[in-house]
Amino acid sequence: MFNKKNNLAVLILAAGKGTRMKSRVTKVLHELRGAPLLSYPIGLAVSLGAKEIIVVAGKNKKAIINFVSSRYEQKNIKVIEQRKLLGTADAVSSSMVRLGRGISDLLVLYGDQPLLSLKTALSLLAAHYRNRSVCTLLTAKIEDAAGYGRIIRNPEGNIIKICEDADLSFQDAGINEVNAGSCIFKKDELAKALKLIRPDNKKKEYYLTEAIGLLAEAGKNISSVYPKEQYEVLGINSRYDLMNLENILNKEAIKRLLDKGVTILSPETTFIDYNVKIGRDTLIKPFVYIGGNVSIGKNCVVGPFCHIRGGSKINDNSVVGSFAEVNRSFIGKNCRIKHFSYLGDARLGRDVNIGAGTVTANFDGKNKNITKIGDKAFIGSDSILIAPVKVGKSSVTGAGSVITKGKDIPDKAIALGVPAKIYAK
Ligand code: UD1
Ligand code: CA
Repeated sequence: MFNKKNNLAVLILAAGKGTRMKSRVTKVLHELRGAPLLSYPIGLAVSLGAKEIIVVAGKNKKAIINFVSSRYEQKNIKVIEQRKLLGTADAVSSSMVRLGRGISDLLVLYGDQPLLSLKTALSLLAAHYRNRSVCTLLTAKIEDAAGYGRIIRNPEGNIIKICEDADLSFQDAGINEVNAGSCIFKKDELAKALKLIRPDNKKKEYYLTEAIGLLAEAGKNISSVYPKEQYEVLGINSRYDLMNLENILNKEAIKRLLDKGVTILSPETTFIDYNVKIGRDTLIKPFVYIGGNVSIGKNCVVGPFCHIRGGSKINDNSVVGSFAEVNRSFIGKNCRIKHFSYLGDARLGRDVNIGAGTVTANFDGKNKNITKIGDKAFIGSDSILIAPVKVGKSSVTGAGSVITKGKDIPDKAIALGVPAKIYAK
């Protein structure tokens, strides 16, 4: 992806305890939109084509190794342990010794900042190489800068140092340009600066951000870029932050769909997960949850109060109404699933009517099985279809029938009763 990639290593700092999450799960394995926080910077590093990717873990090493080895096949992702959490500079030095030969630049990412986009990361790298900088920082001007390191510039506008929040002087406290936490360094220059860092600060930590002041003092070239979107710099320290980011991403997903011609009545009560596709003139009513990879066609009506998930596909002109759940299912065009029902592992043709209270019993205690329902079938209210089973085209099931496992209903037939008997139509 990036032409200097062969010299680039990405370091992801993730050793922190995440005490404020108040959880038995280490912070970077908490999920945002169904994916662990750590998968965001790792995914970014992979997309950048980094030669080496190192995740710095602490006491959470085991959990992180499990996650990385179960999720990624790339051989160039290593997890190393920072034995004592002495600060971000220490995290970087403990891992630099593990870098292979031929690495010239080091991009440092924080494991608790999942929203950094590929676009922004590429612009950070591009500025770094273009300006031949020793260090290029991502900075942002934000309203509430509390908690962040502040960027201190000289009157000419050049960065001279970063001051951490706890160490701010009264006069610098008003600065609202912050260190967004992602920065790229020339490896050898950084190694020299790291040796000079001392924990002379309120937290008694070895701050990576100290390196910036040291490099500036030595007259090195430091540049900075802004992110494409302000929210990219937001980090997660608490459950509140997690909720906040979940909300931001949900709103972004909704905005993208509105721009494509979808009507969404209540953004506050609509949750739309990643990679959801919805066609023009589809109406999403309030209190709807649409899970990852679901696709919904044009002119559909969804909700209120419904749950679509498991990568289900719903075709044009169909209705999924109140208290309906559709899971891992395919729904053809012009189907009606209007009132409380569960369709799991179902394959519906077109013009199918699903009566209120219908359930596809897809799980037999061991396996998930498929229910097939042909074009123009009419499933009566309160039918139970025990999968695997098939309902033929234009067939009807009577209200309250139980269609037992394997008892396929041919085309144009009627099934009635418990267990259902089949009659000609
Ligand atoms: C850090 C930056 C601050 C920046 C902010 C952006 C430093 C000193 N400060 O502050 O300038 O504005 O991020 O969000 O870098 N970690 C380790 N080992 C350690 C300490 C931390 O791996 O010994 C990891 C943490 O798990 C975390 C990341 O480094 O993922 C950042 O550490 P954290 O303590 O959250 O730094 P902040 O105080 O947020
Ligand atoms: Ca942080």
